[in-house]
Amino acid sequence: MQAVSETYNDKVVKQFAIATILWGIVGMLVGVFIAAQLYWPTLGEGIPWLSYGRLRPLHTNAVIFAFGGSALFATSLHVVQRTCHVRLLSDKLAAFVFWGWQAVIVAAAITLPLGYTQGKEYAELEWPIDILIAVVWVSYAWLFFGTIAKRRVQHIYVANWFYGGFILAVALLHIVNNIAMPAGAMKSYSAYSGAVDAMAQWWYGHNAVGFFLTAGFLGMMYYFVPKQAQRPIYSYRLSIVHFWALIAVYMWAGPHHLQYTALPDWAQSVGMVFSLILLAPSWGGAMNGILTLSGVWHKLRTDPILKFLIVAISFYMIATFEGPMMSIKTVNSLSHYTDWTVGHVHAGALGWVAMISIGSLYALLPRLLGKASMHSTRWIDTHFWLHTLGVVFYIASMWIAGVMQGLMWRATNPDGTLTYTFVEALNATYPYYLGRLFGGLLVLAGMLLMAWNTWLTARGATETEQAVLPPDASEARA
Ligand code: HEM
Ligand code: HEM
Repeated sequence: MQAVSETYNDKVVKQFAIATILWGIVGMLVGVFIAAQLYWPTLGEGIPWLSYGRLRPLHTNAVIFAFGGSALFATSLHVVQRTCHVRLLSDKLAAFVFWGWQAVIVAAAITLPLGYTQGKEYAELEWPIDILIAVVWVSYAWLFFGTIAKRRVQHIYVANWFYGGFILAVALLHIVNNIAMPAGAMKSYSAYSGAVDAMAQWWYGHNAVGFFLTAGFLGMMYYFVPKQAQRPIYSYRLSIVHFWALIAVYMWAGPHHLQYTALPDWAQSVGMVFSLILLAPSWGGAMNGILTLSGVWHKLRTDPILKFLIVAISFYMIATFEGPMMSIKTVNSLSHYTDWTVGHVHAGALGWVAMISIGSLYALLPRLLGKASMHSTRWIDTHFWLHTLGVVFYIASMWIAGVMQGLMWRATNPDGTLTYTFVEALNATYPYYLGRLFGGLLVLAGMLLMAWNTWLTARGATETEQAVLPPDASEARA
């Protein structure tokens, strides 16, 4: 029998898996730093590249595209090979995708602190980097779909549909939103203007959430949850409905980011209605993930990897219940501009995205490193609790702070004057910023523990043959 490493390209998967941990630590460290700046506003004073306005986009780019992106590359390239029973289309293309993406990340890490930005949230990078992103992304699409095209099994397992949808949608979003006229090496003007620019940007922004931060990670869920639980997906039929419903609805919900703006009122209402509809496929899919544990719930007691995966889905349900509620115009009039939005973001980002990635990586790493298991399962459990408590501290602080801010800003006296000044609302927020900082530190500590555990796993003496693998998820279909 051929050794697994000869059958599949595990090298690129391993590179992206290690990159996920490293960039996770960097991105979250920057997150902790800017959280500290919000509590101690003079931190980094006088040093332009340490200013909040430059580090905040560095944080979002690092955690979404470097950490989340690497996790998506690692798992998608693993899953597509294992479920199609075939090696990646080309090793050279795979290496190009890895090094190309790292080049994008390094370019972002240099240009953002220097103050180069297009000023579009999550699309800050200037045009030369945008072109590099487009080239790398198209190569990734070629690699992924080319591998599917040469598959040895007829069926295309559902996880690949989610990864495939994510890859296509991100290509479309990135290219359309970044069409711009260069006006120098690091300066450009958007092809759109006024309300159209805003609409294009939030069509992009919201679908970055829907496809980058959701669809790809659902691909992860559909592979790693059944694999780790050693159970078939609760309902394969539901997973197909889930896929088509999700991609059909997400694209229309973007205007909920622009309630009460210059956007036509009907467009705002369309955004709200589609956001409310989105609750159904989101929860349906999440239930499909959670119910996969039917009959093996007891495993949650002993398997911390499964705990990561299932609690991730629970946070996904929280974020996808909260999101539709926040899209309702009257609720949005309270939540918009407040820390409630930031709490919602991190319920999704730290609760869903980070936890499903971390759980999947813990499942994947021993296989990639040729070991039977991680160096310490107890440390995975410690990481789980550090992370979960960290997320709870983070989002609970932001929810309370956000609702309080919204209520204080809108409170009026009988004569119509404002009850509170802005500074009074800010002062009331301070304790919650400390709560968020504490939560962030717990999450970061967990990531450092993961890095240490991975290092010791890699160095461990207990070399094994390829770990005993549970049946392939595609074979375990209902
Ligand atoms: C240690 C963990 C983290 C900490 C301490 C942290 C902290 C922060 C802070 C302080 C902000 C700025 C909030 C503001 O401007 O009021 C922020 C924004 C943001 N973070 Fe994080 N973060 C962490 C992890 C993550 C992760 C893992 C992701 C994504 C996968 C993420 C995605 C975002 C996004 C999208 C925003 C922008 C939110 C908005 O515009 O409403 N963060 N984060
Ligand atoms: C049914 C699903 C969801 C709906 C309908 C939804 C809806 C919303 C709404 C209404 C806002 C506030 C817009 C504003 O007032 O500016 C928002 C912000 C946001 N949501 Fe969600 N959300 C959903 C799921 C998620 C998930 C799962 C994540 C993360 C993984 C996420 C990430 C974000 C981010 C990053 C923002 C902040 C955007 C910004 O202003 O920078 N959302 N979402």
